Amino acid sequence: MKSADRDMKDLPRPSSERRHVYGRRRGKRLREHQNDLMETLLPRVSVPLDHEAPLDPATLFEPATKEIWLEIGFGGGEHLVFQAGRNRDAGIIGCEPFINGVAKLLAEIEAQELSNVRVLSDDARFLLERLKPESLSRIFILYPDPWPKKRHNKRRFINPETLSLLARALKPGGRLRFASDIPDYVGWTLARILRHNRERENGQGSFEWQAERPADWRTAPEDWPGTRYEEKAIREGRTPAYLDFIRL
Ligand SMILES: C[S@@+](CC[C@H](N)C(=O)[O-])C[C@H]1O[C@@H](n2cnc3c(N)ncnc32)[C@H](O)[C@@H]1O
Repeated sequence: MKSADRDMKDLPRPSSERRHVYGRRRGKRLREHQNDLMETLLPRVSVPLDHEAPLDPATLFEPATKEIWLEIGFGGGEHLVFQAGRNRDAGIIGCEPFINGVAKLLAEIEAQELSNVRVLSDDARFLLERLKPESLSRIFILYPDPWPKKRHNKRRFINPETLSLLARALKPGGRLRFASDIPDYVGWTLARILRHNRERENGQGSFEWQAERPADWRTAPEDWPGTRYEEKAIREGRTPAYLDFIRL
């Protein structure tokens, strides 16, 4: 059995089960133009998610793109827009349940004529569950909600189930980037990745951390524009960590 199939089979929950999305769905009222974009542009760039059928993300992009990337929790979309503008030959899917962030991204898609962006204004787990195995080349999880209180830790996006889904969605050689300003979440992620790796036979589907020295995770990568959340973290005295992994 291929490791990707095994990972899918091992998923603990049925895919049709609706999950609770933690965090805000809505903030301030949208401006008139943002509302227009939600009505006119969003349907054109939305990822059509059928909760029963698998999705080959290549079918979302016409003309076909060289690679397909995914950003989970794009917030205001700063990083996604930067990558989409810089990599017009990559199709980039963004998932974000916070409507105001989606509206901001739509405004940039319009202003910068980004034809290589698709949007799921919902929980990324719905997409990960439906994605064709080994269909993505890159995944970004940048400053996921930290849920610092012990009793809320289990809401964190990184857990054994999502790691299996991320490994299943990435091609061998595909890259996962995780950034956080919360040391406890960085340690949490590394510990869960180690455990995930220990459970992969022959290492297939595991994540190889690329850092060789502290500067590798303390220094922002070359293809890094900064994000709004990161700006706030640095202003408040927290130090970001950037973890890059290759999916074996
Ligand atoms: C702390 S913010 C960081 C936003 C952005 N990445 C940045 O660096 O500015 C975390 C974002 O993840 C989104 N989020 C939380 N759970 C999510 C999920 N299950 N799927 C997709 N996005 C999610 C939240 O709505 C929020 O916008």
